Amino acid sequence: MSFDNLNEEFESKIQNKLDQKLKRRKLFDGFKKNKVVNEVLDKLTVMELYNLIKSNVVFYMNGIVKAGKESVVFWAKGENDEDLALKVYLVSTSNFKKRIQYIVGDPRFSRIKKGTKNLVYLWAQKEFRNLSLCYKKGIPVVKPLHVSKNILVMEFIGEGGTPAKTLLESHIDQHDYESSISLIKMLYNKAKLVHGDFSEYNIFKTDKGLILFDLGSAVDLNHPNSNDFLKRDINNITNFFVKRGLTVEHPSDVLRKVTK
Ligand SMILES: Nc1ncnc2c1ncn2[C@@H]1O[C@H](COP(=O)(O)OP(=O)(O)OP(=O)(O)O)[C@@H](O)[C@H]1O
Ligand SMILES: [Mg+2]
Repeated sequence: MSFDNLNEEFESKIQNKLDQKLKRRKLFDGFKKNKVVNEVLDKLTVMELYNLIKSNVVFYMNGIVKAGKESVVFWAKGENDEDLALKVYLVSTSNFKKRIQYIVGDPRFSRIKKGTKNLVYLWAQKEFRNLSLCYKKGIPVVKPLHVSKNILVMEFIGEGGTPAKTLLESHIDQHDYESSISLIKMLYNKAKLVHGDFSEYNIFKTDKGLILFDLGSAVDLNHPNSNDFLKRDINNITNFFVKRGLTVEHPSDVLRKVTK
């Protein structure tokens, strides 16, 4: 075998290796199998976003509003140029243990399909259902518009893609305390729900008053831990107002009034 032949053989071997590597890195549609793009969206999610656009739920997507560990909230536009908030629950970083306790025991969800992806889909459904129930009962929550797979579409609270300030980010007064407690009461008495993650992080303060959001963890009153969740909700929000130097009622008195 001549030197030239050897060289050719060597080159083609290297080329083969490179081709294989490229193939492995990228599939024909630009997605790595079961992997996420920029560590955020997996292929199914991107396809679902595309479906939402095709079916006219969403007109186009704007930027990311907030990227959390378990969800990413996008600012999008609807068909009539209205602002939308799309909450995309991430399948890749879903905290199974944390969520399951807010599902098992809730009589509304007696049948639960196995697998992380299904639990994430169920969680999105659950938040949609909780929001819809509250909205129907006239409780000030963000208006839910659509849910499919791991994507929840809501009205956007805020302007120009900037969300309204939460209680945490706002200047607050005594009236905000009363309104917060009244939100807990309305949830309990009208929607028969306990929020489960009621805090200064999950309430917008707007010109039209407080607006509650992030209701994925809200449980039916028949959930065996609903009373514990309620106590924790009341304690959390009370501590926040105490830290801000406002006058509050004792949490046990609040609990009594909410549940009477
Ligand atoms: N309907 C909405 N309109 C405008 N902004 C929104 C809306 N819903 C959520 N956001 C923005 O996204 C942020 C996170 O939303 P949310 O609390 O529902 O998600 P989360 O899973 O709790 O995220 P995190 O873990 O970061 O708190 C909010 O603080 C708010 O800035
Ligand atoms: Mg939140």
